[in-house]
Amino acid sequence: MLDMTGRGKGICALASYSGNKVSGLILGRFENKEAEMLSVYVNPFFRKKGIASMLLKQFEKKAAAAGCSKIKAAFTSAMPSFGAVKRLFEKNGWSKPQKRMKLIYFSRENLYREIQENPRYEKYKNALLPKGFELVKWCELQPEKIAQIKSRHNQPGGWTDDNTPFREPEKMEKLNSFAILKDDSVAGWFITHRINPDTIRYTQIYNDPVANGMRGIIIQTVIHAYWLHAMYGPEKGCFIIYEWNTSLLKIFEKLMEKLTDSCTESFGVEKDIGQD
Ligand SMILES: CC(C)(COP(=O)(O)OP(=O)(O)OC[C@H]1O[C@@H](n2cnc3c(N)ncnc32)[C@H](O)[C@@H]1OP(=O)(O)O)[C@@H](O)C(=O)NCCC(=O)NCCS
Repeated sequence: MLDMTGRGKGICALASYSGNKVSGLILGRFENKEAEMLSVYVNPFFRKKGIASMLLKQFEKKAAAAGCSKIKAAFTSAMPSFGAVKRLFEKNGWSKPQKRMKLIYFSRENLYREIQENPRYEKYKNALLPKGFELVKWCELQPEKIAQIKSRHNQPGGWTDDNTPFREPEKMEKLNSFAILKDDSVAGWFITHRINPDTIRYTQIYNDPVANGMRGIIIQTVIHAYWLHAMYGPEKGCFIIYEWNTSLLKIFEKLMEKLTDSCTESFGVEKDIGQD
């Protein structure tokens, strides 16, 4: 076993050898008291011999030694090894997989066609919002508005880490990430990220409870963002719907079904490794 843990801050990387060949790799990170197993891979020639289980056990030991009390991992239904991954965690005493989110992929071509052909989209193209509302590109948002948003983090009735607009700022998409203003105050946001050169990920919609009467605004925002993507954006889009986000699920049902090229589900698993 080759142990490369500690060469990068909080990173754990382990490799297994069978003879003089690398047969498997596991990579993860430790942060505060939580560990995350990011990936495990076994050379196809050496599979079903218990190597992944052995690597996972070693990773668990390293995490416990680093002071972690819990380990998390995620995997998707699109992985060719979906069955094997599920079994791997089950066999090693991890929690039952919890559905976390759906990832829905679409092409710009389909988006463009849908927007051109479906008259429902016509009125939304210019984001004609009701009086008092305004869409401002996130990259053009004034610093005092950002401060206003930050002041409501974890406040009663405010936003939480689950719907933060500040995740992955370096990937934030300039074309169609918006703040929604109501009477010049930030009332919500719609955040997208360029996850690779040809894909925009639709990451976050948030409707701040401080702003009443947002009905219809979110849907206009989404369609306006789609329209910008269809006209000026890259080849692909990917929409994330978290399981808890039932209102977004409804929007998806209304707008996205016809556009979907493929859909995968992502699952989360965890294991308590018994420290406090
Ligand atoms: C998932 C993977 C790491 C498993 O590696 P492995 O060394 O074959 O796993 P193990 O031998 O430790 O097997 C773990 C369990 O999964 C089962 N399993 C392995 N391959 C399986 C398959 N194709 N279908 C169903 N179960 C499978 C094993 O039988 C074993 O269960 P058992 O002891 O009850 O029989 C390997 O298939 C792989 O590298 N896949 C590609 C990379 C990947 O998708 N990684 C996950 C990203 S997080």
